[in-house]
Amino acid sequence: MADPFQNVEAGGAEFIETVVGALETRAAEPIMIEIVEQYLETLDFVDGGLHVEVGAGTGAIARRIAARAGNGQVIASEPSAGLVEAARKLAGGASNLKFETGDGAALRFEDGSVDNVVMHTVLSHVVDPTVFLNEAARILKNGGRLVVCDADFEKTSLANAWADPLDACAKYFAEHFVTDKFLTGKLRGLAAAAGLTVEEFRITSRTVTTGAGAMTWVGMASMHMVNNGLISQELADCLAAEYKRREVAGSLYGHQPFVTLIARKP
Ligand SMILES: C[S@@+](CC[C@H](N)C(=O)[O-])C[C@H]1O[C@@H](n2cnc3c(N)ncnc32)[C@H](O)[C@@H]1O
Repeated sequence: MADPFQNVEAGGAEFIETVVGALETRAAEPIMIEIVEQYLETLDFVDGGLHVEVGAGTGAIARRIAARAGNGQVIASEPSAGLVEAARKLAGGASNLKFETGDGAALRFEDGSVDNVVMHTVLSHVVDPTVFLNEAARILKNGGRLVVCDADFEKTSLANAWADPLDACAKYFAEHFVTDKFLTGKLRGLAAAAGLTVEEFRITSRTVTTGAGAMTWVGMASMHMVNNGLISQELADCLAAEYKRREVAGSLYGHQPFVTLIARKP
């Protein structure tokens, strides 16, 4: 079955609601705020600039871009109408931030018209990242920058022991809710092939020892297994309870390398 993030809208209202919670939870983690602010710090926000986020989800990253954009304009593009609706509500009334439905494989912007493009955990969910990188390169002004920030899902772990059942959920999530769990290692070559000059390639550890950040892997994986008749709802409930038990016991340990690539259009 295809990665549900390829078409969030098709998952229906319940899945959209789950995704809204998961994205907002992750974006609020201190380490994620640090990762995002670190890459935004390296971008130029010129007066009246145009900045595009591709696959913006609930707009958690777009809101941070808008906070730095001053009198520039931020367009947050996202294919799921349900997520766009949620993003508009969450954003309140920021006058320099607009959400619209759109496909990152065919952006509506003119050649050489955009100062910065951001793709945050989007490319690991698409079939052909080359098309997205070519689109980013096309719409960027000369000197404009692309940020690709994505998780290394192949190395994602919730293991405290060999064959740990929570780690099985993390592995199952990477198999069924991600399109290319090996994407991060390919990014530098893909960006260069799109004609971009890679300026930075950085790895940061996202460690989850409290909060619901890694519950996404357990909850979505076990929901998928229940829906496919692989496990019972009782076992899914037990896996969620075990996550919470570890959190209270101080033994919750989720780990995920996060890659940030910053590339410039020459
Ligand atoms: C894991 S979410 C990340 C959302 C947001 N960037 C964030 O980090 O909070 C992946 C997003 O990619 C979007 N996506 C999937 N296919 C896409 C496409 N063809 N074009 C643009 N976005 C796409 C999904 O709808 C979803 O919102």
